[in-house]
Amino acid sequence: MSASEPLVLGIESSCDETGVGIVRGHTLLADALASSVDEHARFGGVVPEVASRAHLQALVPTLHRALDEAGVTLADIDAIAVTAGPGLAGALLVGVAGAKGLALATEKPIYGVNHLAAHVAVDTLEHGPLPEPAIALLVSGGHSSLLRVDDLARGVTPLGATIDDAAGEAFDKVARLLGMPFPGGPPIDKAARDGDPLSIAFPRGLTGPKDLVEHRFDFSFSGLKTAVARWVEARQRSGEPVPVNDVAASFQDAVCDVLTRKAIDACRSQGIETLVIGGGVAANSRLKAMAAERAASYGITVRVPRPKLCTDNGAMVAALGSHLVAAGTAPSKLDFAADSAMPLTLVGV
Ligand code: KG4
Ligand code: ZN
Repeated sequence: MSASEPLVLGIESSCDETGVGIVRGHTLLADALASSVDEHARFGGVVPEVASRAHLQALVPTLHRALDEAGVTLADIDAIAVTAGPGLAGALLVGVAGAKGLALATEKPIYGVNHLAAHVAVDTLEHGPLPEPAIALLVSGGHSSLLRVDDLARGVTPLGATIDDAAGEAFDKVARLLGMPFPGGPPIDKAARDGDPLSIAFPRGLTGPKDLVEHRFDFSFSGLKTAVARWVEARQRSGEPVPVNDVAASFQDAVCDVLTRKAIDACRSQGIETLVIGGGVAANSRLKAMAAERAASYGITVRVPRPKLCTDNGAMVAALGSHLVAAGTAPSKLDFAADSAMPLTLVGV
């Protein structure tokens, strides 16, 4: 770490995590997080109004924790980055308004950045600069996309995306029908360790010969979710116990099989040797293992940040902000708006 590298503060508030991270260059100095996940658990999904109010309460205390953790003051910060979108409109607004207030008060430049690009940028905090071009597999509660990254500071090229449910959404819905808590990824990951992934043959969406022509790099998880529901219902109707661990393992393998197969196909078809996986589902242990195993045989390097950096956090926003500052990107104008549907092709506003 060099003291001449910019000190960047990042604020994340697009969903249910209030995150404030501080980085210097590619070095992570602080990653403070407050989550409202428990307040949403009984609804089985994030309630936007509840999330917005929780961000409002958590933002300032989380900011102070991050500054303490990094041992710096607001005056030391060189630039402020904040998630401008995509995400929940009211939740985004809290982070954007807070960041603008800080920027105005401290006279620091502000960067409104794309949450999804930040999920890719965060890997630089763990593995250093990203070799470009790279393929990025972005799998979260709201998104599942395959992207080509030629220059992260300028934008990414979408290759494909889910045509229905996101991968994380499928984990959350299947967990719910297995009686597991929200969010469903972690409990399924855990249960699957004691299950047999080959016990139930669940469908692999959009992998048939015709799909590979029309939807080669797209995903579909809605049919899989329905197949799991039908299978569990049939068991329950016949009065037999539901083998939860086997269902979890077989479902998880179906998701990971499709994700890794298509991600590696994207790398091979584009002649790219680096695959970076980001977003909450990248925390999945089976996904990481399967991707590494399959990629190795083609000489492809897989980069996955540690689980705490995969799920939403402020460090990822700071990482992307730092990347933009280093690339000489102009800051955002102070009147930029939060954009709940911000397209992937826009890295910053
Ligand atoms: O990126 P993220 O924190 O928030 C969004 O931007 O959506 O992703 C949250 C999603 C949830 O659907 C959660 O179930 C999933 O990531 N997730 C996992 C794991 N940890 C979190 N999915 C599978 N395995 C995990 N270990
Ligand atoms: Zn996310």
